[in-house]
Amino acid sequence: MKTNDQITIRQLSDTDSLEDLTELLHRAYKILADMGLKYVATYQSIEITRKRLKNGTCFVAELDGQIAGTVLYRKPGQPKGCAFYERPDVAHVSQMGVEPDLQRRGIGAKLMRHAEESAVRDGASELALDTSEQATHLIKWYERMGFRFVGHIDWEITNYRSVIMSKMLQPAFPS
Ligand SMILES: CC(C)(COP(=O)(O)OP(=O)(O)OC[C@H]1O[C@@H](n2cnc3c(N)ncnc32)[C@H](O)[C@@H]1OP(=O)(O)O)[C@@H](O)C(=O)NCCC(=O)NCCS
Repeated sequence: MKTNDQITIRQLSDTDSLEDLTELLHRAYKILADMGLKYVATYQSIEITRKRLKNGTCFVAELDGQIAGTVLYRKPGQPKGCAFYERPDVAHVSQMGVEPDLQRRGIGAKLMRHAEESAVRDGASELALDTSEQATHLIKWYERMGFRFVGHIDWEITNYRSVIMSKMLQPAFPS
């Protein structure tokens, strides 16, 4: 099994295929679609992927020259559409997915750590996200990584209510 240190996290580049990225998201999110949860990433078109990426920075995990996972990061000040997210000290992640065959090897955690480091560099004191309140396995995973429940939000586009979770970040150089 490939190990965590063979995974590189980088920014999506212009030469990466948005079609491949979209298909990766569909494959990763299929488990949630099968639970009846209509996350946008279960069905989004390439155009929607392109539109979502415009609002943030897309990081990808690369393994053997292939994209194995992704997360969309938004620094404080980038539009995110909910009051908690609009706080000037709050960064945000969404659209996180790992290739199903490559899950449970630490790729998701590595993507999240990269987003946390970016958030600290961008001056954020919190990194927030949301997920379906029915996705208890994800809520537990986020809790294990240090996220806590901060509220609910009901996105009109989804067929579930979401929980907002947030993690307090340690500054790079504590004063
Ligand atoms: C959620 C998701 C991004 C997590 O990515 P991942 O790469 O599987 O996550 P990790 O491997 O870092 O951690 C997952 C589990 O694997 C375990 N793990 C990590 N490295 C491991 C290894 N080398 N061997 C075995 N298990 C390992 C972790 O401890 C964790 O276990 P836990 O759930 O008991 O804490 C991924 O499962 C996914 O794409 N899911 C579908 C889409 C989705 O749910 N997206 C989020 C929507 S809000």
